[in-house]
Amino acid sequence: ARTAAVIPAAGRGVRLGPGAPKALRALNGTPMLIHAVRALAASRAVSLVVVVAPPDGAAEVKSLLDAHALPERTDFLVVPGGDTRQESVKLGLDALPPEYDIVLVHDAARPLVPVDTVDAVIEAVRDGAAAVVPALPLADTVKEVEPAAVPGDPEPVVATPDRARLRAVQTPQGFDRATLVRAHETVTEDVTDDASMVERLGPAVVVVPGHEEAFKVTRPLDLVLAEAVLARRRL
Ligand code: CTP
Ligand code: MG
Repeated sequence: ARTAAVIPAAGRGVRLGPGAPKALRALNGTPMLIHAVRALAASRAVSLVVVVAPPDGAAEVKSLLDAHALPERTDFLVVPGGDTRQESVKLGLDALPPEYDIVLVHDAARPLVPVDTVDAVIEAVRDGAAAVVPALPLADTVKEVEPAAVPGDPEPVVATPDRARLRAVQTPQGFDRATLVRAHETVTEDVTDDASMVERLGPAVVVVPGHEEAFKVTRPLDLVLAEAVLARRRL
């Protein structure tokens, strides 16, 4: 089984605030996207990385990847992305050569995922799961609310799901390629991760342990944390 990684990196990073597209922002001097690509290429099983670049940034991403060495065994491709993460992943899948039968989808915004997490996801797909997600228990209690019509108004609580049964889901998510392609061709609702498309289709999705360092860089505070983690690793 050959494994490829699709890395959606086409988002603007609105919640991070003004500046370059999020994936191109530097963490300790190196673009976030490069950290993310290296994190996936660190797995010996990953022989191709497909980077889905900001629509007007494919040439820039291509030259960044040319300038930062990857392991000898790892090829890469760059394709322009779309308006939503879902579209961007689909565009990445469309570019995959036929010989890859396992696909990982990994957010460029999770630049610090450890290779052991990547390998655990691949292993679970190799063991027969159609879809695998790394996830962690929640620290916070979660409440379902009736969203306020006016932002900032108090919101009525509707329910409190049992926290012990909840997991916060990360990437890379791993898939049998045919299953993921079918999901992207079939599911038209908006989703926030790839595994939820497979859930709608039917095949079982399984969870393996995630890692704290696979957190998503979303808001400015996350940049502080990411740079501190890198400094601790001396990168
Ligand atoms: N992504 C993408 N194409 C889009 C939107 C998002 O490839 N049209 C990617 C982002 O680049 C990121 C991942 O999907 O690597 C997760 O998305 P998110 O963290 O929401 O990033 P952004 O959409 O860039 O951030 P924001 O929602 O704050 O604008
Ligand atoms: Mg987004």
